[in-house]
Parts: sequence; C-alpha cells; structure tokens
Amino acid sequence: MTNLNLSRRDFSKLMGLSAGYAALGLPEAKASWLPAASSSIATVVRLSSNENPYGPSPAALKAMTDGFSLAWRYPDEHADLLADELARLHSVSVDQVILGDGSGEILKLCAAAFTNRDKKIVVANPTFEAISRHAGVAGAEVVKIDLTPDYSHDLKKMIAAANVAGLIYICNPNNPTASLTSRTEMADFLAKVSPATIVLVDEAYHHYVESKDYESVIPLVRQYPNLIVIRTFSKIYGMAGLRCGYGITQRANIGMLKAHQIWDSVNIMALVAARASLKDPDHIARGRKLNNEVKKSVCAELDALGYRYIPSHANFIMIDLRREVRPIIDALRTRGV
Ligand SMILES: Cc1ncc(COP(=O)(O)O)c(C=O)c1O
Repeated sequence: MTNLNLSRRDFSKLMGLSAGYAALGLPEAKASWLPAASSSIATVVRLSSNENPYGPSPAALKAMTDGFSLAWRYPDEHADLLADELARLHSVSVDQVILGDGSGEILKLCAAAFTNRDKKIVVANPTFEAISRHAGVAGAEVVKIDLTPDYSHDLKKMIAAANVAGLIYICNPNNPTASLTSRTEMADFLAKVSPATIVLVDEAYHHYVESKDYESVIPLVRQYPNLIVIRTFSKIYGMAGLRCGYGITQRANIGMLKAHQIWDSVNIMALVAARASLKDPDHIARGRKLNNEVKKSVCAELDALGYRYIPSHANFIMIDLRREVRPIIDALRTRGV
C-alpha cells in the first residue's frame, strides 16, 4: 500500500471509481494483527473477489504456525472438530454440517446432486455465477430472473419459473449488487416454494449486514427439509486463500452432497485456522466495524462526486461509472490496484 504514493483523498477518489473499496481503510486502520507484506504480490491491492484485506484473526495465524507439525496427517479429526463446533454455533446436529474446500466446493456439490437435464436451476440476474456454470456442465437449464427494481430477489417470479425445479439459488446479500432480500420475503418464500425444489441460500456476506430487515435462514433448516444454507471463511474471516466453507441442511441432503465429494477436501491449515477464528468473535466485530466505516467514507466521496451506487450490505459496492469500465480497470492496475 505504501508504495502507491497516493494521498488518502486521491486514493478514495480512485477507489470511488471501482467496485472494491475496503483497502481504503488500510493506511490508517492498519492494525497490529495484520501480517506484514511478504512479497510484491501482497503490495497489490486485490479486492476483485471481495476479499477481506484485514486478513485472518491473529489466533488463526498462530493456529496455522502451530499446525505445520500436523501436515503429515490426514485432517480427519480436525474436520470432525470443526464440524462439531459449527454444529454447536448454529444449534444443529453435527450430521447437518458439511465442510467444503471453500463454499465454492459446496456450490459445485449442490449442482451435481440437485440439477441435471431434467432439473433446472433458477438464479437471479445478476448474481454470483459459479453455480450456474456448474449446473450448465450437468446439462441443466439455467433460468435467470431479474432482480426487482430495489435489487432484491424476485422470489414470486423465481417460484413461478421453478415449477418444481431442481434448485433455486438465492445469494443474500447478493453478489455483485450487495443488496438484500428481506427476512419477511425469505420466510414467505420458503413457506410457498415446493418441498420438491431445493432452495440454496448463499450467506457468504452474512457478517457484514447491519440492516434489521435481514436475518440468516439457518434457523429455518429445522423446518424446511429442502433448505441448504452455505457460509464461508473467505470473507469476514479473511481466509480466502486457505479455502474453507460449510453448508447447513438436513441430514438426507448432506448424504446426497457427500456422495459427490472427495474425501478430506479441506486441508489441515484451513481447518485449524477456521477453528481458531470461531474462538475469536471480536475479529468479526472489528472487521464489520472497519468495513462499515470505510464504506461510509467511500459513499460520502461518491455522493460528493455525484456517482450513483446501490446501497451496500456487504464489503463491496456496485457503482454506476457512467462510462466504459475497461479503461478504469487499466488505470487502477497501473496504480497497483
Ligand atoms: C456469493 C459468494 N458465494 C460463494 C463464494 C465462494 O467463496 P469461497 O469458495 O471462497 O468460500 C463467493 C466468492 O466470491 C461469493 O461471492
């Protein structure tokens, strides 16, 4: 960051022209728990996948250092312990938890288990595209339903399009719009959707939300056998490079997902770091606070510059740049962003 030779104001203007913004807070917010930049790769501001530049909890870093000596062993016990801890965190039984090599692996497993030539997938437009790609490989039809004018999922249209589809994917908050689908809409939708349709709710950005209109649907897994909820350690936990995510659903679905999964897909470093992270909830609170402070400051700059953007409930913002994006990406790249 320091070699960018930009003032805070210059940098915030620069970031105001991009979708990522969180690194803006780093020069002032750079805290003792941040790992030192160890290579030129670390000096590039890279936020295009909504990474968390504040990094993992110091407890996770220590757990990984201590974990080197475990590298010769398969990770079974640590996977079991993490699944157990997640089950307790979410008040479900351990056989309702599936770990993944990032939540991306679980998206792939869902596509493999619940979509095919006869079972389509219904997704929002736009939304995180990974599962549509996987479902496409499985030969499934991908039906895209535009977000509503206020950028929530159009759940009524999604149900109508599903017509007992294989799977409906809801990303909440949604990537790339950072918008919410409200808890009342979600509850109403789950009560109406056919039990034969799998509903996959992706809560990758859950921890960033402060709105009272939002609620996780994990507690509803008990009530709805067709509901699968996924979370990740890649965002607020700052562990994108480690690859660890998980899903919560009823036992029968876990069996169907695991049938497609390789054994030991989550590595020992990710497991020990994830376990340590769960024991450091302050890291989450601190990350949310820093993110929301920076978000406010970026939005103030955008307002001052007259740019329109979608109010963000995550760690990224979708901005109307009023021009071609490619030259802006190139300009950012020359500045190490
Ligand atoms: C909405 C959403 N879901 C899932 C993922 C995949 O995350 P990971 O595989 O790192 O857990 C991402 C990554 O950007 C995402 O934005």
